[in-house]
Amino acid sequence: MFPMADLRTRVGKLEMENPTMLASGILGQTGEFLFRMVREGGAGAVVTKSIGLEPREGHGSPCLLELECGLLNAMGLPNPGIESFGGEIGIALKGGAPVIGSIFADTAENFALLAKKMEAAGASAVELNLSCPHATRYGLDVGSDPEKVAEIVRAVKSAVEIPVWAKLSPMVPDIAGIALAAEEAGCDAVVAINTLKAMKVEVKVGKPVLRNRVGGLSGPAAKPVGVRAVYEIANRVKIPVIGVGGISTGEDALEYMMAGASAVQIGSGVHYRGTDVFSKVCAEVSAFLDARGWELSDVVGMAGGKA
Ligand SMILES: Cc1cc2nc3c(=O)[nH]c(=O)nc-3n(C[C@H](O)[C@H](O)[C@H](O)COP(=O)(O)O)c2cc1C
Repeated sequence: MFPMADLRTRVGKLEMENPTMLASGILGQTGEFLFRMVREGGAGAVVTKSIGLEPREGHGSPCLLELECGLLNAMGLPNPGIESFGGEIGIALKGGAPVIGSIFADTAENFALLAKKMEAAGASAVELNLSCPHATRYGLDVGSDPEKVAEIVRAVKSAVEIPVWAKLSPMVPDIAGIALAAEEAGCDAVVAINTLKAMKVEVKVGKPVLRNRVGGLSGPAAKPVGVRAVYEIANRVKIPVIGVGGISTGEDALEYMMAGASAVQIGSGVHYRGTDVFSKVCAEVSAFLDARGWELSDVVGMAGGKA
């Protein structure tokens, strides 16, 4: 199933065959899987699992549930650490698409150190995880304060040449204000959204189901929140916005793009529609554009999201 319309997309300096990317944390722990998402799945780019300085086990099981409205996870940022992971980037790059290294840390200095290592490993860009809702001292704990976000972005920008993206959480009063702080600190693009802090109780036993008690909600329930976040951000910043949250069809992707996203990421959609969800979404976007004689660039911001 090959798309007809020209879906080539640019996010700043990065050129992609199409606007879909694998989101961080979904099958992104090995270079082999990332390679397959490009070659077999049709992704225009891939984002690695979030990687830290040291290996980390993450939270115990159960850590992933399927709910009626989406997926609830509390993985807790399990990862092998940058020293063991670096080599996976080279394998992933053989897919022929940009590979974005997602990183998490507790301080600006550690973010900068990790970003340097990702760059040395060959990553096409780094994505700063400023938004995981279920890992104390990381993610949202550092990403909810605009000054802290600006400090981290400045430190990373002065450490690397590759583009720097900031991935933000919707669990703040003003996500566009955080995006603006990132832009003013030199950030090249903003990614929105990470998961929403959420919880499931098993009524038969009267206890939370997740071992960590709370986790992050993704999938269909996250989509309207993500579309709103992208719309607000696109109206405040000039840098590209990448939309993520609940995308598994072409229509979902188009909603985000009309709200102002230049490109989209897909995470839970891999679970709902399979590893070729990227090709399916591209074919659906393409059919929509062809039926109207539109280009991809015509729809970006159509709903008032980008000047
Ligand atoms: C199992 C799982 C693991 C995730 N791990 C990460 C991660 O390591 N880093 C990160 O920035 N986001 C992580 N996310 C969040 C996704 O990248 C994405 O922002 C979120 O799930 C919303 O998109 P979706 O509805 O397409 O899944 C994870 C999501 C899931 C479901």
